[in-house]
Amino acid sequence: MTILVTGATGHLGGLAVRHLLDRVPAGALAVSVRDTTKAADLAERGIDVRQGDFTKPESLRFDGVDTLLLVSADGPDDVRVVAQKAAVDAAARAGVKRIAYTSVSDASVSPLGLAKVHAATEEHIKASGVPYTFLRNAMYHENYLGTLPQSLERGTHVTATGTGRIASVGRDDLALAAAIVVTTDGHENATYELTGARAWSFDELAAIAAEVTGKPLKHVSVPGSELQAGLLGAGLPEFLAELFTDIQVNIARGTLAEVRPDLARLIGREPVSIEQAVRDALV
Ligand SMILES: NC(=O)c1ccc[n+]([C@@H]2O[C@H](COP(=O)([O-])OP(=O)(O)OC[C@H]3O[C@@H](n4cnc5c(N)ncnc54)[C@H](OP(=O)(O)O)[C@@H]3O)[C@@H](O)[C@H]2O)c1
Repeated sequence: MTILVTGATGHLGGLAVRHLLDRVPAGALAVSVRDTTKAADLAERGIDVRQGDFTKPESLRFDGVDTLLLVSADGPDDVRVVAQKAAVDAAARAGVKRIAYTSVSDASVSPLGLAKVHAATEEHIKASGVPYTFLRNAMYHENYLGTLPQSLERGTHVTATGTGRIASVGRDDLALAAAIVVTTDGHENATYELTGARAWSFDELAAIAAEVTGKPLKHVSVPGSELQAGLLGAGLPEFLAELFTDIQVNIARGTLAEVRPDLARLIGREPVSIEQAVRDALV
């Protein structure tokens, strides 16, 4: 049985490969990456490294693959929706027997702007007739950790999330779930909503960061328009400023607050908490 992972030179795909190596021999694994030089370590371990870019469908080689872990691409939505559909088509043409796709929470009904790409990709996978598993990943804890050190310097953590809560989850737990799903049976045409064990607010995040570092930190919520202007001013590309603002405004509305049991069931334990993630990042 061959399992191929895309995005294996990225964060989630890389972690998934690590968890897969704990479960299957390297000879049963393949990766499809844009830049093979970034996957030299994987080749050294005996993994079949194939060059492939979703935006160049002719480059994609999924022959001999039983299960594809299709990690969603990054970049502007109009580009990645076409690219991801092309990857699905290439998998179907190559006779892949199952596609596990990393989607987003409630993809088919979510008001999040970024959900459209995932909903369209899920639909395309269903229409391809290839058996699938949708791994609907909640927002990563890691998204909310990187700016904490600067916020701690200033004493304020600025968001547009109001009192909204989010059931975020550690990337590594999602990678573990993906590795379990592609190496075990019983996930055919299943959709998993993979969230953290509890929903937290950004007031709480500031309090956790203050507690673990001993430095004062206050959460300040501003209107979405103000946040977006600040992100653009800081030099973020327009699509990213829009994306981040949309996510935060949706957090304020409670879009990402629902806690689901699927992840704990799949990995056999509670997911890593936001408290632990903050501690690991800051201490
Ligand atoms: N749930 C969340 O909070 C969250 C947050 C951010 C992103 N995401 C989504 O989840 C995915 C995985 O997250 P991550 O943290 O691993 O992101 P990441 O580190 O940015 O990895 C994205 C991977 O996608 C690959 N990729 C991008 N465009 C591609 C293309 N046209 N063809 C083939 N591969 C392509 C990248 O290749 P290279 O290694 O060559 O760059 C990279 O390996 C992201 O791509 C995004 O769709 C989710």
